[in-house]
Amino acid sequence: MILLTGGAGYIGSHTAAELMERGRDVIIADDFSNSSPRVIDRLERICGRRPAVFEADVSDHSAMEELFRREKIEAVIHFAGYKAVGESVQKPVQYYKNNLGCTLNLLELMAEHGVKSIIFSSSATVYGPEAIPPYTEDMRTGPCANPYGWSKLMSEEIIRGAATARPEMSAMLLRYFNPIGAHPSGLIGEDPSGIPNNLMPYITKVAVGKLERLNVFGDDYPTPDGTGVRDYIHVCDLAAGHAAALDWCETHTGADMVNLGTGRGYTVLEVVRAFEKASGIPIPYVIAPRRDGDIPVLLADTKKAERVLGWTAKHGIEDMCADSWRWQKCNPEGYATEY
Ligand code: WQD
Repeated sequence: MILLTGGAGYIGSHTAAELMERGRDVIIADDFSNSSPRVIDRLERICGRRPAVFEADVSDHSAMEELFRREKIEAVIHFAGYKAVGESVQKPVQYYKNNLGCTLNLLELMAEHGVKSIIFSSSATVYGPEAIPPYTEDMRTGPCANPYGWSKLMSEEIIRGAATARPEMSAMLLRYFNPIGAHPSGLIGEDPSGIPNNLMPYITKVAVGKLERLNVFGDDYPTPDGTGVRDYIHVCDLAAGHAAALDWCETHTGADMVNLGTGRGYTVLEVVRAFEKASGIPIPYVIAPRRDGDIPVLLADTKKAERVLGWTAKHGIEDMCADSWRWQKCNPEGYATEY
């Protein structure tokens, strides 16, 4: 059984679908504080079978102890954590307590129950201002721009330390770039609560008429059209990267980390144009001031992921836009949409 903590979330649910399609048995541990139980029904419709579900706060030792005692866990894929960058600046203690608490709790339970493999949902935000894009995994990490990024970097260090102390362990730290898109079925996708912070869910809400226009945060960056460049990666490619990391864990010990990106950057306005082309819907926008904390370019070097995991991203920006739009068009209220 593969344990997916936070497996009802955006990346977790797509990884659950990918693993079940590959014949793996999956159990999702989630408190549904930032995800919907309806994801489970949608996964059953996609995969023809239902993942096991264990509703719990992943940082709660006694609750999670029950899961490790009841199930034979072969590996853990650890998604559970708070992830709103802006909120992490307002509530740093809660972010550290929850995000590090989940990681520490899992590592304790893994040691107590002889579970050897962990895959961790890390982020490109662990790279510091000295790193020059395209980022390679040996580039300097930190100082992070916010408590969310620090909590990811600290969790990486904690997991690396645990793998050093337990030589039988395997730990793969996956540094995500910018996940967008949705499963081609249109049944699962990104469903942020409230006004989306991230670009693609904001665009899809404009397209479906929930928001009036996109605010483009700055057009005076040193980039081709002045707007921010990011390495967008299709969430299904990201899910396949987790499956490849699971294979790696089953044949290796020790800790390692790889970037999961495409190595291809797009500006905000290029994404807007690609979305308009894919959806046939014009996206009105205004140029707004730069957003605090934004950097001009975020781009992955993907050579190590290909060398270590034998994985590369397959989907281009057209698929990412078309699949994002299909999800939002079919689910204007996200998982609250009544079918
Ligand atoms: C992308 C680009 C914005 C919204 C964040 C987190 C990162 C990860 C992914 C969790 C930037 C511009 C955005 C909008 C805009 N999250 N933009 N108008 O900031 O690269 O990364 O999300 O792991 O940790 O930091 O992604 O989608 O917010 O922004 O112009 O309404 O779109 O300035 O250039 P970001 P984003």
